[in-house]
Amino acid sequence: MRYEDLYNEWKNDPEKFWINAAQNIDWINFPSFALDSSNKPFYKWFPDGLVNTCYNAVDRHVIKGKGEKTAIIYDSAIRSVKEKITYSQLLERVTKFAHAMSNAGITKGDRVIIYMPMIPEAIVSMLACSRIGAIHSVVFGGFASNELAVRIDDAKPKAIIAGSCGIEPTSIIPYKPLLDKAIEQANHKPNFCVIFQRDELQAPLVSNRDYDWYEFQKSSSECTCIPVFGNEPLYILYTSGTTGQPKGVVRPTAGHLVSLMWTMKNFYGAGENDIFWAASDVGWVVGHSYIVYAPLFAGNTTILFEGKPVGTPDPGTFWRIIEEYNVDILFTAPTAFRAIKRSDPVGKFIKKYDTSSLKTLFLAGERADSDTINWASNKLKVPVIDHWWQTETGFPMVGCPQGLNSPPVKIGTAGLAMPGFDVKVLDEGSRTSGTNELGSIVVKLPLPPGTLPTLWNADDRFKQSYLSRFPGHYDTGDAGFIDSDGYISIMARTDDVINTAGHRLSTGAMEEVLSEHPDIAECAVIGVSDDLKGQLPLGFICLNAGVNRNHEEIIEESISLVRDKIGPVASFKMAVIIERLPKTRSGKILRGTMLKIANGENFKVPATIDDPSILEEIKKALIDLDYPKKS
Ligand code: COA
Ligand code: AMP
Repeated sequence: MRYEDLYNEWKNDPEKFWINAAQNIDWINFPSFALDSSNKPFYKWFPDGLVNTCYNAVDRHVIKGKGEKTAIIYDSAIRSVKEKITYSQLLERVTKFAHAMSNAGITKGDRVIIYMPMIPEAIVSMLACSRIGAIHSVVFGGFASNELAVRIDDAKPKAIIAGSCGIEPTSIIPYKPLLDKAIEQANHKPNFCVIFQRDELQAPLVSNRDYDWYEFQKSSSECTCIPVFGNEPLYILYTSGTTGQPKGVVRPTAGHLVSLMWTMKNFYGAGENDIFWAASDVGWVVGHSYIVYAPLFAGNTTILFEGKPVGTPDPGTFWRIIEEYNVDILFTAPTAFRAIKRSDPVGKFIKKYDTSSLKTLFLAGERADSDTINWASNKLKVPVIDHWWQTETGFPMVGCPQGLNSPPVKIGTAGLAMPGFDVKVLDEGSRTSGTNELGSIVVKLPLPPGTLPTLWNADDRFKQSYLSRFPGHYDTGDAGFIDSDGYISIMARTDDVINTAGHRLSTGAMEEVLSEHPDIAECAVIGVSDDLKGQLPLGFICLNAGVNRNHEEIIEESISLVRDKIGPVASFKMAVIIERLPKTRSGKILRGTMLKIANGENFKVPATIDDPSILEEIKKALIDLDYPKKS
């Protein structure tokens, strides 16, 4: 089918379109209608449908005779461990763990936090929660205990499931002390924790609170799938907003099933027997949607990769995995390819492997630069498809769908709007911007099934963050433009979210942490361009009057503070101390101007600046940091 025809089919009758897509899911009760708009702007998709996520990801494939098919290939390049798990084996592991959780008092609607590295038990935990209707909230391992504590207080989990440690190329990261500290810090306390002890590091357990993964389920057996109404949450995934308080994006059960299932064939062009590899982490939305749920809904084989594109052990790891498992579809962030390209610019390692099984490379998570796209397509000889989406949507909003009669790719753009998304570019006055004119990217309400119906326990914040600026539309927080052929380019964020190595981070949250330092009067953190990670946070710090300590020491303390409070994932390693921040006469910090100076771009001294001389001071401070980059 042609993309245009399908998009028009959706636009003419969105409810019919999604009810048709819902036929590909196994329901307990098929929904009698698609959309409930009675309580705008809180839309509900398939609210009277009864369904279970785990059943669709696992049971139905076993029932249909595909039990011996490999569901998960676990390849830990970091530990040199490999494991294949069939759908039958996955069912056994999930039912056992679900039964144990249910015996321990977890029931439908209870929250369970999962703080685990990239191991099969992370997927088993997620599926087990969905089997009994519990709402999981996975927290990425690179976050520190403070971030975990904030999530514990917001989600109020009855249980936490954690791994004893994460393994990074140069060190073992003990997760248990981070978990213990988070529980101590949080006001809410979970009833119990289940700890998966990894061979590399055994964590001491707290008696009457912590249970060993195997002990916990030793006497459990089977467990049926609990029926869940369409709009009831499957999971909460916290993501960065403009403050230190992350937003708890709620994922509705049925819409998630229907939309993800739809994307596998239509967007990713995945056939029944394709091996699908999303090289991300289960702690991010890409991991939720395309390591765990979508490939399993579609009965594909998914790859769970623990390692890095370089250094585990070399830049040939991705090609080794493609060859070894005959990967058909690879999805990762451009950063991963920039890292490989930097280590192996001529593609020496690619030549060592047979990557001919690969059909398509998908990139998302950050803007894909044309150098990276061209390098990847020259070396791999496959179409490279950029596509744009967010934690909030859970699946692609814009791209060049490979399952449909594929529209041509235009490098530099993220592609065309997908069914479900009426994407527009608006100016500050909510007027539609002209062709190629930069503005805020918005989507006309209602959003399609699977997208966030609200934020966890924060309906007002949901309205305020996403729906208040452009009435009748969802504000994506991204800026960009649409060309005359309808191709959409995503250029920048309109808020203070930055993207570091494909990880979404809030500079506002970093500023809040820095402000806790006793010597810091005020600060500003901006995301400067970086050749590898896309953007890196850079802090400008102003000290309290009378502080005459060594500046280097204060900078080191600031860096440690962000690492301890937010986590290593923030990659906050650069800061400078300056006299004052550049501000307008009304007191607004001129972050845009600071960014242009740091990135070496031309800028005009803003007419509203209260003291232009501060800009010279900033330039001098940045020279020490090699900003703007001389290369
Ligand atoms: N648990 C604990 N620590 C973690 C972690 C985890 N799960 N993930 C990352 N970290 C740590 C890293 O060890 C690093 O610590 P350091 O400052 O002590 O070196 C820090 O967090 C920053 O991590 P990262 O930004 O990933 O940098 P890196 O140098 O380790 O790796 C890349 C750089 C480019 C190789 C890597 O980021 C990458 O492959 N990114 C692209 C793919 C991707 O996962 N995208 C996600 C969305 S699709
Ligand atoms: P996350 O919610 O972590 O997936 O981050 C979503 C944000 O990443 C988006 O709002 C964009 O700012 C950015 N992003 C994701 N995909 C792309 C892309 N293909 N091009 C440009 N930016 C992207």
